[in-house]
Amino acid sequence: MKSASNVDNTTLISKISYSFELLKMRLKPNNSNSQIIPWNDIDEYEYLIKKYYPEAANNGLFQQKVLEIGYGARPWRLICLMSLGIDAWGVDLDKPVYGFNFFRLLGVLRNNGIERFSKSFIRGLFFDIHDLKKIKKELLIHGKQLKIDKSRLKVGNAADEEHFEANSFSFAFSEDVFEHIP
Ligand SMILES: C[S@@+](CC[C@H](N)C(=O)[O-])C[C@H]1O[C@@H](n2cnc3c(N)ncnc32)[C@H](O)[C@@H]1O
Repeated sequence: MKSASNVDNTTLISKISYSFELLKMRLKPNNSNSQIIPWNDIDEYEYLIKKYYPEAANNGLFQQKVLEIGYGARPWRLICLMSLGIDAWGVDLDKPVYGFNFFRLLGVLRNNGIERFSKSFIRGLFFDIHDLKKIKKELLIHGKQLKIDKSRLKVGNAADEEHFEANSFSFAFSEDVFEHIP
């Protein structure tokens, strides 16, 4: 299966205008005060577990083995869950390029070409360093350290069986992914 960036047919102009809108959104002053740990998602997952898996009602998300399908280039949600102590794993078609890391960026250039490299470079430099600092700071408030277990960030098609043992997860979620699959 092709990488998500390769199946994107949007025009250059719409990509530039989308990036500009994102930049504007990110630069809004009230954005810097918002929480980066996805507490709303965590509450929603807890609610769903209790609703559909009542045997686990007392255990909640923290006692599940959790899978995120399509964690994205900046897998903050998955990283936060791991750091909070949840046994969380993920799979994505594309290798994540979070942070401003020379080797990961070089990998993007090799595998995905100059367009995605430029995007990752700018995002890494202007946003990821700041976001990771923010995650670290917010985790510290909760007595936790940033934990990035790369072995849990599988790369490949979620539909392939090879990534995980059968029946090994008790909760799976996916945000903003299935609507992008052709
Ligand atoms: C719009 S992004 C969403 C990323 C993340 N969930 C978020 O909320 O920011 C969609 C992600 O789904 C991944 N994806 C699409 N099809 C996939 C598949 N068949 N298996 C695994 N990941 C897939 C893409 O590589 C991309 O990173």
